[in-house]
Amino acid sequence: MPLRVAILASGSGSNAQRLFDLKHAGALDIDPVLLVCNRPGARALERAKQANVPSLMLDHTREPDRERYDRSLVAALKEAQAELIVMAGYMRLVTPVFLNSFPGQVINIHPALLPAFPGVRGAADALEYGVRLSGCTVHFVDEIMDHGAIIIQAAVPVHPDDDSDRLQTRIHALEHRIYPQAVQWFAEKRVRLEGRQVRILPAASARGAVTSDGSWLAWPPLEQPF
Ligand code: GRF
Repeated sequence: MPLRVAILASGSGSNAQRLFDLKHAGALDIDPVLLVCNRPGARALERAKQANVPSLMLDHTREPDRERYDRSLVAALKEAQAELIVMAGYMRLVTPVFLNSFPGQVINIHPALLPAFPGVRGAADALEYGVRLSGCTVHFVDEIMDHGAIIIQAAVPVHPDDDSDRLQTRIHALEHRIYPQAVQWFAEKRVRLEGRQVRILPAASARGAVTSDGSWLAWPPLEQPF
């Protein structure tokens, strides 16, 4: 049975799009059962519609109480029987009401190599700091922002002429590779959370590893040329 995946988004939704496309191409064993968006008019909603994925707009400005908002969110996700909740550009802090309803089932992607540069300006902060390598991180979500156990990271060099848009674009392209890989590991029931450590169990049959082409590095290695 394909893994029932729900996506939470607030903006463009390009990571959601990538999951829809790869599912359509037969490269992901998932069933995207719901996309929830908290911002009216966000492109993510249009992408879900185009991909025939059910969507729900839960406008946070109409429900300022975070716990009450999260209760509505949980109800929608339970009704959709979501097994994995994928945050993809979801610009909201979540409460224990939400996290306790889906223990070990909520993941996020962040555009920096955590634990460095958490927060909404990950790529820009890394550039301003002067790092030589930046990248992205897929991690479990816990109650602290950008803090949960790390599932996969990918690194890119920072070029001397980078501005934050250029760096962000390079990082975004890698997000579109490592997020599907992480989701596929969940679909194959190979992700084990042991304290702060995440173990990826071996594949049932041997797979080639796609680690790097010199301009990026992903670890653990990608198992498909996502
Ligand atoms: C990504 O950069 C992700 O790392 C961050 O929000 C952005 C979402 O992009 N959490 P998109 O909406 O999937 O295009």
